[in-house]
Amino acid sequence: MVRRPAALTPPALLTSLPARFTSRLHDERTASWLGIALGVSVLSAFATGLVSHFMQHPPGWAQWPSRPVNLYRVTQGVHVIGGLAAVPLLLAKLWTVYPRLWQWPPVRSIGHAVQRLLVFVLVGAALFQFATGVLNIAYWYPFRFFFTTAHYWTAYILAGALVIHVADQGAKARRTVMTRPQDAVGRRWFLLTAAAASGTVALTTAGEAFTPLARLAVLAPRRPGTGPQGVPVNKSAAATGVTALARDPGWRLTVTGRVARRVVLSLDDLRALPQHTARLPIACVEGWSVEADWRGVRLRDVLRLAGVSGDARIRVESLERQGRYRTSRVDPPHWRDPLTLLALDLNGEPLALDHGHPCRLIAPNRPGVMQTKWVHRLVVS
Ligand code: HEM
Repeated sequence: MVRRPAALTPPALLTSLPARFTSRLHDERTASWLGIALGVSVLSAFATGLVSHFMQHPPGWAQWPSRPVNLYRVTQGVHVIGGLAAVPLLLAKLWTVYPRLWQWPPVRSIGHAVQRLLVFVLVGAALFQFATGVLNIAYWYPFRFFFTTAHYWTAYILAGALVIHVADQGAKARRTVMTRPQDAVGRRWFLLTAAAASGTVALTTAGEAFTPLARLAVLAPRRPGTGPQGVPVNKSAAATGVTALARDPGWRLTVTGRVARRVVLSLDDLRALPQHTARLPIACVEGWSVEADWRGVRLRDVLRLAGVSGDARIRVESLERQGRYRTSRVDPPHWRDPLTLLALDLNGEPLALDHGHPCRLIAPNRPGVMQTKWVHRLVVS
């Protein structure tokens, strides 16, 4: 009789496990279909996530266009709503493949060890991205790290592991889904259930960005129509400590830096300049967005008073004393755009304090965190 070496003898628990994984759905075909759907979701989240990152942190030489007006609204809506909709697919996929966790021997060769390690990286990075993403949009931060930085770097790990996984398994998955299955009924129901769960999540969150579906948006953390003047607020004046400064009648807007003339304007001065209306969305990094009617002075008109022209770059500064988003950069495509306003009114009323009274930036195709509120200085460089 041939004896197995002691080191390769599976523990008793493992030898009994295969008998427990009796479902036919732990098979390659189910795993392949779910893998294809998840691969598409993750790559679309990666692409739209990069748009969000590079809109907020453009390299020095790059400038984003100000049109199409709704570009960021769409990309970040797809990112968050698509990401949420992919959660049921991820859970179904993990359920399908988890029996492989107990395969014996755990490692057959160096190549097999590397392959397994990559799958662990892939699953770990995916779980991290989905879990932190969902916690972030729920405004719950049980972790100590800064979400955006961790989410950004994990995205590269996830995308890299996914590309290698597709190179390794893609041909097999394609062959599997192309062959006619013998036992399709149970699997079809399972896949349809996962797809229906995914569709339900999409339908009950899409209204946070697509206003006609707002009434269905029961799973969305923010809904259009809520908040002062019908527009949601993420950061209030009280939370940022600007209430007294923003209400001060001595408030002035200063244009300084590389200017022909330094300009200082009161709120009355701003109201005396030509007023314009623009219908533009506030499109939050957390995926919600809502269109509103903004009225105020064109940024380019104020800059012209200071003699600004050409390729100047503007730093818009808020009354906030600290915080990552107290300033934002406005490049020529945006400040020259006639839709870019220093808004004084919102939906027919003077700006509410929480929306940036006395004056805020509103521009097309720009994340909400860059639509600086409580503006008091424009620095030209
Ligand atoms: C599926 C895999 C995912 C990938 C590859 C991915 C990738 C990215 C990337 C590269 C960014 C830009 C980060 C930056 O600005 O530096 C980002 C931003 C963001 N993602 Fe994801 N993401 C994924 C899933 C999710 C999910 C499921 C959610 C929530 C449901 C989510 C919510 C967010 C949010 C809220 C931001 C904006 C962060 C900010 O700028 O404050 N992501 N994502």
